[in-house]
Amino acid sequence: MSGISAPRGTKDILPGEVEKWQYMEDIVRRVCARYGYREIRTPLFEHTELFQRGIGEATDIVEKEMYTFTDRGGRSITLRPEGTAPVVRAYLEHKLYGSAQPVRLFYHGPMFRYERPQAGRYRQFHQFGIEALGSQDPLMDTETILVALTIFEEMGLEGLHIEVNSMGCPRCRPMYREGLKHYLKGRLDRLCPVCRTRYELNPVRILDCKENTCREELEQVPEIGDYLCPECRDHFELVQRYLTSLGRPYSLNPRLVRGLDYYTKTVFEVIAPGMGAQRAVAGGGRYDGLAEECGGRATPAVGFAAGMDRLLLALESQGKELSLSRELDAFVAIVGDKARMMALKVAVALRDHGFRVEMETEGRSLRAQLKTADRLGAAHVIIIGEEELGRNAAVIRNMEDGGQQEVPLAQLIESPESLSLQKISG
Ligand code: HAM
Repeated sequence: MSGISAPRGTKDILPGEVEKWQYMEDIVRRVCARYGYREIRTPLFEHTELFQRGIGEATDIVEKEMYTFTDRGGRSITLRPEGTAPVVRAYLEHKLYGSAQPVRLFYHGPMFRYERPQAGRYRQFHQFGIEALGSQDPLMDTETILVALTIFEEMGLEGLHIEVNSMGCPRCRPMYREGLKHYLKGRLDRLCPVCRTRYELNPVRILDCKENTCREELEQVPEIGDYLCPECRDHFELVQRYLTSLGRPYSLNPRLVRGLDYYTKTVFEVIAPGMGAQRAVAGGGRYDGLAEECGGRATPAVGFAAGMDRLLLALESQGKELSLSRELDAFVAIVGDKARMMALKVAVALRDHGFRVEMETEGRSLRAQLKTADRLGAAHVIIIGEEELGRNAAVIRNMEDGGQQEVPLAQLIESPESLSLQKISG
């Protein structure tokens, strides 16, 4: 091939690897069903304006990470960098506010951000997420965190850690902004150039800066907790009380501000140990103003999204064996040209009975066929040979112990379950 490879920051998920994704997706589906979340699938691209308005103009995502292009009709289109704004758009567009509230939705699929690729950070990555729209109850914030933790536990992840904070609301956040700006004003020349521009546009983002100089200047920074209005304070206290009553440990991180501007009240991240800089496997929170920001009716909502690529890395770094099914129940081998027709019949019959079966097509020696069957991970090889055909029989070879047994062809075709053959794959 002429050396064309997958674009930087993307990857192929090959057979062998794909089963691990299916394993994660199955758990997401199962847990979401238990909590009443139903799947939604939104387009991979949206009008750029949705993300500009939803995520916020002065965020890294909108400023420099979106895959935006003009389509042939002259519209500005963006590959979705996240799933929340599209779900809110769909909720409004299809008037889901007309059905029983809150509406609980989940999704999974690829997202796109033009970031600097490194371990755990890609340009096409995969998220699953849940969004509960139409409730302002702090119980829903707690439920969201619980769904995340339940899914991660069922995947077998250990040592996860939850950080929570409150971002306040349009009533109290402006006061915090002012307090923050007041504190930072005399320190501006010691902040990094990016934070200096953030100072005017989006000062809260400065709390998230990873530069050492900025971190030093932030040591005594005022905390948003001291500025919350009574409603936000009560809400946050209830979320914490519910978590505690469920025996779910968490820590308060007053610097947790998240990279998207739509958050109000509760925000949280789930951190996996030993993951270096990309240690957040999930993040989310409440976004009571997003629906209005998108031009719709006011709709309180809360949700989270998890990075599935990172979850897989975390699972692997913890040495977790993902329960993967075996590849193949049986390989049908052929000895002699006259056996080909019967081999085809046997393979089709076994497949019709639900077995996973491959058959020989290349006319190789039996030895070579057994080797192929072994490489495919087949549990059994069914040998259809001219000699056995004369006796209306076939041979079943157990690949584990090498044991062989001659069986009547009719039984193999009509009731394979009655033989030593077993479906070993789920
Ligand atoms: P986010 O924090 O931008 O939030 O992304 C959620 C998770 O996606 C991150 O914690 C991380 O695990 C994963 N992730 C993000 N960017 C990348 C990347 N470039 N490569 C690999 N993984 C990545 C959101 O997207 C919000 N929509 C979450 C939400 C839902 N808030 C409310 N509802």
